[in-house]
Formats: sequence, C-alpha cells, structure tokens
Amino acid sequence: MPEARPLDPFRSERLVYRAVNDQPQDIAFIHSIQRDAEAQSGSSYALLRPESIKASTEFKDRIEKCLLGALICLPVTGLAEKDSETLPIGIICLKATPLSHAHHRNSDISIDIAKEYRGQGYGGEAIRWALWYGFQMAGLHRISIETFSFNEGAMKLYERLGFTCEGKHREAMWFNGRWHDDVVYGMLEDEWREEQRKAGNDV
Ligand SMILES: CC(C)(COP(=O)(O)OP(=O)(O)OC[C@H]1O[C@@H](n2cnc3c(N)ncnc32)[C@H](O)[C@@H]1OP(=O)(O)O)[C@@H](O)C(=O)NCCC(=O)NCCS
Repeated sequence: MPEARPLDPFRSERLVYRAVNDQPQDIAFIHSIQRDAEAQSGSSYALLRPESIKASTEFKDRIEKCLLGALICLPVTGLAEKDSETLPIGIICLKATPLSHAHHRNSDISIDIAKEYRGQGYGGEAIRWALWYGFQMAGLHRISIETFSFNEGAMKLYERLGFTCEGKHREAMWFNGRWHDDVVYGMLEDEWREEQRKAGNDV
C-alpha cells in the first residue's frame, strides 16, 4: 500500500513553502532575486533594467495574485512552524488565468532560485511540489513551463522532471544582441498521475 502524503501540503522533502509577507525581509529577498541579472535573463521577457525597491514591492503584489505564489524556503529549525523559522531561497508561482479561461484548467510555472542555492536539487524539488499542488490540489489539467533556448540547464532539468517539449516560439526573444527561441514544455495530469503511480505515490 503506497504511503499517504504527509498532511502538511506546504512541505516537500527538504523545503517549506510559505506566502510572501508584507515585511522588509521578504521584500528584500524578492528584491535580491529581481536584481539578479542572470536569473532575470533566464526567466523574464522584461527588458533588463536596474530594479527598484518599488518595482520589487509591486512584483510581490503580483505573486499574491497567482493561483499559487510561494517563497521556497529552507527550515531554519526542525519544525519551522513559524515563517520566521524559514530561510527563503527562491520563488515559485503557478500563474493565474483569467476567469474566462478557467475552464481550460491550464497554468504555467515560473521559478527562480537564489544564485547561491542553485544546482543542489532545490529547483527540481520545488517544481515537483508545484506539479503535485497543481494537479492534486488545484485540479489542473495541464501545467507548462517555458524557458529561453540559451537556458540549457533549465531545459535539461525540465526534461528530467518529465515535461514534454511541445515546441518553440522561434526567435521570440531579443537578448544580448541576438534572437532566441522561447521553448515551451508541458505536462498533462494523466502523465503526472502515471509517473506518481509508478513511483508508488498515493495520488
Ligand atoms: C533553473 C533553476 C530554477 C533550476 O533550479 P536548481 O535548483 O538550480 O536546479 P536543480 O539543482 O534542481 O537541478 C540542477 C539542474 O538544473 C540545471 N540548472 C539550470 N540552471 C542552473 C544553474 N544556474 N546552476 C546549476 N544548475 C542549473 C542543470 O541542468 C542541473 O542539472 P545537472 O545536475 O544534471 O547538471 C535555477 O537554476 C534558477 O533559478 N536559475 C535562474 C533563473 C531561471 O533560469 N529560471 C527558470 C527559467 S524558466
């Protein structure tokens, strides 16, 4: 009999997920990610500009409007029952769709891991958690994740996580003097459930 998932829906193996609070530490963390040019050039269509605290505060408001918007955190204490007992290392969102599109039950993941925590498996763990949340809790049918064609590490990771490359918007992105493709990956609920069953997870 597969083991039921623990009751706390806001934890995965090593990580805790919590809301962004209206407090200086959280704004400062978002600001540190927003002003990281490498992170922004890997994940954002926006023209790179020096990021103001005001813009980061507005970004915080946008995170709150997502279907799921969470800070990816490491527990600082064993239980990490309070937000103050967590250390933010990234941001993950399932984007909201307008009400008139809700019947399609689609969403798109965006993720940024702070530079010093990349390459340690946290991004993959957080994406697996967002897939669980999206399919199992939010009742989604399809979840996509997009990246630019120069972000080879991200593409490799998404394929390893079981996403299918669905195509690309050719030369959709101008960055650093040349055109790049916008590559679209997707996963369907049935595909996710099948993989969970194979892994012996109770879904
Ligand atoms: C892409 C990203 C979310 C992956 O998270 P991560 O925690 O670094 O990834 P993991 O440790 O779970 O997985 C490691 C894999 O990610 C890939 N990767 C992508 N960018 C990487 C980076 N800057 N450093 C290390 N690994 C990276 C590698 O392919 C690596 O695979 P490997 O172990 O076989 O070499 C993270 O690196 C990041 O936030 N990058 C900057 C912003 C960005 O590109 N966002 C996504 C745009 S869609």
